[in-house]
Amino acid sequence: MNNNRFSVPSAELEKQTEYKEKVKTVLSSRFSLSFPKAFVHTYGCQGNVADSERIKGLLTEMGYEMTENLDEADLILYNTCAIREHAQDRVFGNVGALKKIKKDKPGLIIALCGCMMQQRYVADKIKESYRFVDLVFGTHVLYKLPEFIYRCLCTGERVFDITNSDGNIVEGLPVKRDGSFKAWVPIMYGCNNFCSYCIVPYVRGRERSRGFSVIVDEVKELVKKGYKEITLLGQNVNSYNKDLANEYRFPALLRAIDNIEGDFIIRFMTSHPRDCTKELLDTMADCKKVAKHLHLPVQSGNDRVLFEMNRHYDRKKYLSLIDYAYSLMPNLSITSDIIVGFPGETYEEFADTLSLVEYVNYTSLFTFIFSSRPGTKAAEMDDFVSREEKGKWFSELTGLQEKIAAKRTASMKGKTYRVLVEGKGRYDGYLSGRTEGNIIIEFPGAEDLIGSFCNVRVTEPKTWILIGEKAD
Ligand code: 5AD
Ligand code: SF4
Repeated sequence: MNNNRFSVPSAELEKQTEYKEKVKTVLSSRFSLSFPKAFVHTYGCQGNVADSERIKGLLTEMGYEMTENLDEADLILYNTCAIREHAQDRVFGNVGALKKIKKDKPGLIIALCGCMMQQRYVADKIKESYRFVDLVFGTHVLYKLPEFIYRCLCTGERVFDITNSDGNIVEGLPVKRDGSFKAWVPIMYGCNNFCSYCIVPYVRGRERSRGFSVIVDEVKELVKKGYKEITLLGQNVNSYNKDLANEYRFPALLRAIDNIEGDFIIRFMTSHPRDCTKELLDTMADCKKVAKHLHLPVQSGNDRVLFEMNRHYDRKKYLSLIDYAYSLMPNLSITSDIIVGFPGETYEEFADTLSLVEYVNYTSLFTFIFSSRPGTKAAEMDDFVSREEKGKWFSELTGLQEKIAAKRTASMKGKTYRVLVEGKGRYDGYLSGRTEGNIIIEFPGAEDLIGSFCNVRVTEPKTWILIGEKAD
């Protein structure tokens, strides 16, 4: 249970606390009439969202007030994503647009962090070609933000720190959560899987798990504060504490959290089929508070492609997990990630993905066309199929999933679901919530229901969302 080998030395953390105070002093002398404002924007996955909540926590303790308005910001920070080329292009475009804002406001600090910055070629490009960017830091040094800001404020130098490490765990950072009833709780960081297409293991370091009791205590605290949905996060939650005794692994963690008193729902993502066990599915079925929703990315339905992807499971193993899961939880909602057009994939192999999708009867899919990431193994593989052809395959897959989803939602008509109300719906007077299976449902209701559970009867199923009415 000891994660000390990943801990940052306490002297280093104390140093950062001192920097926090120094920044506060500098800012209060420069901003005597108003608070300095920080604009933080997050790209990519929930892991990044959770990191940004820590960044916002640190900035708040340094004296910044958060703003949604780019023009009034004294500090602009983008937490970036590297998962696909398109995600990176968007960031480059949006950073480019900051040049003018900086010209009009020379004291503005522009900062970039996250997975994209952890790649040396990106940091170098920012250094050379985006000279108005003041601060770039990678995923392993987030806790040094006070020191970085202090250097930007007091020396005027550009700060770059993309120190590479196997990764660390820093507990005790302040967290400024985006929501008041839904919370993200990271349980582990990094990834050891090295799927051949994926950049994550290179930019997030090796797998490391947070302490069991640290997580349970954090959830207890959140529930006490009134949080209604807790999502446990990790690239591969099934390998949480993989090297420790059974009593500290993921199923045990789920049971411990399920035992916390209070009315709340537990979600988790992402499960890797390689490490998904019957024990985990038994645990899901047993635990009352665990949502009956499983996000189990398959990526492809063809064994040769799965092998080339380095996924360490085959179609048969994946489908046996699905069969077992449905046998325990007939109404389970299953979602997945799929990559179309992996290098060397033929149409016949892609057709295996189509048949798998049909068999599994997914609720919804996150579908992606393969994007070559520099430094990964797949980036070196020959890729003969044109983008246009891949686009056709992609449409065939999304068209199939649309039919499956429509059938699934149609079967929900007239049934009543317990829903966590998340906010206003898209029509006037409507609210929006999510079923346990993670399907959006909209229904007429008063805004004071936001943040609470409500029973809603489905009146009109659409393909991807449901329309309903309050049932009690
Ligand atoms: N190209 C396309 N999709 C990718 N993903 C990860 N890397 C790539 C890539 N290089 C997808 C996978 C993963 C999801 C988070 O992003 O499907 O599960
Ligand atoms: Fe990437 Fe595979 Fe790790 Fe997921 S499990 S982050 S797809 S390497």
